[in-house]
Amino acid sequence: MTAAPRRLPGRLLAPAPGWTTMADVVIVGSGIAGLTAALRLRGQVGKVLVVTKDVLNAGSTQWAQGGIAAALGPGDTPEEHEWDTLVAGAGACDADAVRVLVTEGPEAVRELIALGTNFDHDPDGALSLTREGGHHRDRIAHAGGDATGAEIQRALIAAVQAAPDIEVIEHALAVDLMLGSGPDGVERVVGVTLHVMGEGQRDGIGAVHARAVVLASGGLGQVFTQTTNPSVATGDGLAVALRAGATLRDLEFVQFHPTVMYLGPDSRGQQPLISEAVRGEGAFLVDGPPEEGGSRFMQGVHELADLAPRDVVAKAIMKRMLETGAAHMWLDARHLGAEFWERRFPTILATARSHGIDPVTELIPVAPACHYASGGVRTDLDGRTGVPGLYATGEVACSGVHGANRLASNSLLEGLVFSRRIAAVLPGELAPWTPLRTDRRPSGLIDAEVRRELQEAMTARVGVLRSAPGLTEAALLLDKLAGCVAATPDQESWETTNLVTVAAALADAAAGREETRGSHWREDHPERDDLRWGGHFDVTMTDGVIAAAFVPAPPTDTLPPGALPPGAVPADTIPAEPDGAA
Ligand code: SIN
Repeated sequence: MTAAPRRLPGRLLAPAPGWTTMADVVIVGSGIAGLTAALRLRGQVGKVLVVTKDVLNAGSTQWAQGGIAAALGPGDTPEEHEWDTLVAGAGACDADAVRVLVTEGPEAVRELIALGTNFDHDPDGALSLTREGGHHRDRIAHAGGDATGAEIQRALIAAVQAAPDIEVIEHALAVDLMLGSGPDGVERVVGVTLHVMGEGQRDGIGAVHARAVVLASGGLGQVFTQTTNPSVATGDGLAVALRAGATLRDLEFVQFHPTVMYLGPDSRGQQPLISEAVRGEGAFLVDGPPEEGGSRFMQGVHELADLAPRDVVAKAIMKRMLETGAAHMWLDARHLGAEFWERRFPTILATARSHGIDPVTELIPVAPACHYASGGVRTDLDGRTGVPGLYATGEVACSGVHGANRLASNSLLEGLVFSRRIAAVLPGELAPWTPLRTDRRPSGLIDAEVRRELQEAMTARVGVLRSAPGLTEAALLLDKLAGCVAATPDQESWETTNLVTVAAALADAAAGREETRGSHWREDHPERDDLRWGGHFDVTMTDGVIAAAFVPAPPTDTLPPGALPPGAVPADTIPAEPDGAA
């Protein structure tokens, strides 16, 4: 007898809308991707409405520390940035999307500067650029030392607030996308239902009728117990897109940041990030205090040692933790000195001190924690999803630039570049106003009480290190949780339903990929296997049942025979050592 398939809500159980409004384009999310889309679309499409789950700066952009990567420094080229991105992505990138990212990136960053973002500069006035894992050049622009995201968010919010034609609704959870039949008879997105915790006319559930919706709602970090993501990152955009018929791609590639401050085994939710830029400025990992015999362990693991791509460092930390039985490793940045710490990393310094660790005199305890969803709603090069009228950009999207492991500081850039591209095509694609059709998707709701159990199972079984038995246990638990229905719709149960939905898609893709690639680490399949697993897992939902299908694609990180990576110097052009040189 075959077990009945796991059935998830095909839409969220919610009261009928108590209010309605209209906007030509609704943008869901207010980080770099959402606000860039709004600023670029205004003036082109009638009314632009930004809806955001909390206040404008509550999303992940605000928390970005390291910076934004682009080939802006002397000697750097988009080709070198492209190669570093493809290598970090472990063969699973979309080569065309990466080319778009690196070639349009420099201009997009210059535009951000023109908008009023104050990036840091060297004493000679040049843009200050640093290095992070996987980069072979200094190419990370930063602001306020380690407060890059906060400065970008500030500049974007100021620009949006100065634009009277952009309307904003805060405290608005996107509950579901509304569907209708377009003039061609094809199903399309015709708006979004919201739950607004507001006052007056727009309070509770409402319907926003629209001609297009742009999802820019960020990631899914809250699927796990410890994450660098803020509490709003509950995968809502991914879940609403899946329920509306969009495809999710590469969800198994969840990036665990190697150096998240370890606050103890019971710490939950958002944890303090210790930016990779700290290693970029010379900090290194040790398996114990050097004074007590601890040593560095990244040398010999990778040519870039402590600045290897993020997946390599996270795995090396986990391996050392397993070997030594320690709950964390340490970051030694004491030699950077008080003056440097205060100037270059003021936010991290203050946060570490607030948790009782002074990085100027003490080692910082660190362990990997969930940081970034490299996959998301599958889009083409212009942010179109497979559902007419629905676009996606930023972390919620899978444009193909990150592959199996995002290169450090490419995420802010992705939001910037692909939102510009959406704004270039969307106005020409706007459909006439289309009526909503009766929604036949099976509605439902999962009990908010299961959130903690979900997070713990996902962390233990579908976290940094995965294997078939653990993934099977996770699948069984997800079957059980899908049946834990709630009767009373509220924000907690909507979010929990989204978390379970996204976790199920992620776990199914992770179970399918029987190899180790990038941030997907299978204990039982420790090697990368291009022959069987070169390609992507695409997840779709029909009548509440999700299915993961494998789509083969050739690896994108292999050079033709004899070719050198960009920036490499051919051996025969390296001058020979003079006779007698040591
Ligand atoms: C960091 O500062 O280490 C995070 C940067 C990123 O996630 O790209």
